[in-house]
Amino acid sequence: MNNADQILKAFNGNLDRLPEYRAKVDNINARIRGWSNSNHYLFFKSWMDAFPEARNVLIVGVYLGRDISYMFDAAGERALNVTGVDKFNAEPCDDWPKEKLHMTWEEAFFCPPPDIEKARENIKPSMGLLHSLNLVKADDKVWLEGASGAYDLIFLDASHEYASISRQLRAVHKLCHPFTIVSGDDYANVQPGWGVEDAVKHAFKTHHHIDNRIWFAGAEDYL
Ligand SMILES: C[S@@+](CC[C@H](N)C(=O)[O-])C[C@H]1O[C@@H](n2cnc3c(N)ncnc32)[C@H](O)[C@@H]1O
Repeated sequence: MNNADQILKAFNGNLDRLPEYRAKVDNINARIRGWSNSNHYLFFKSWMDAFPEARNVLIVGVYLGRDISYMFDAAGERALNVTGVDKFNAEPCDDWPKEKLHMTWEEAFFCPPPDIEKARENIKPSMGLLHSLNLVKADDKVWLEGASGAYDLIFLDASHEYASISRQLRAVHKLCHPFTIVSGDDYANVQPGWGVEDAVKHAFKTHHHIDNRIWFAGAEDYL
């Protein structure tokens, strides 16, 4: 069984606790806008269950902090350090359809733009004494090139076109140790021009996905 298989095993073992997690997720979703759901919560919880010593997370694409709140909530009393990178501005993203590129976030997707202060405020109620948060306002193209250190979990959820994901997958390889899990959202190409699935298939020998959305692979399986 490889490192990613361990998470799938933990995820399947946690499925009967989904109603309990759903209540927590509903609570967070009522406070924080976003697109993630109870499968994301269960995925983060299952990663923690599969790797009891792991504590350092890098998430690229924070928006208003929903996923990070899930992570801290799922961690409970356990130590967790999260670095979240996002451009945190109202500019369109590289994966927006051409016809929306001149629009605001409200016009294009009926939602407000990402905001670092709002994200910090949103995440705070989910944080415990052993949790730390480092939000970084940067374009991931620049930040990932200069990044150093090692993370136990990397979650990619910024721009979803093939070029962005494959660039990020190459850039985060240096931030991995043998037990790092590299993961992300939007595996299926729900918008024209997205290419997460192909980028993941071209980067790893093997990987898993949950419900065609959350994908994950062990850094040991980089091609
Ligand atoms: C789908 S949202 C992330 C949702 C988030 N994971 C959550 O918990 O709700 C995508 C985010 O990626 C960010 N983003 C897109 N392109 C980026 C780039 N080149 N650099 C940094 N952030 C970027 C956007 O600002 C946006 O907040």
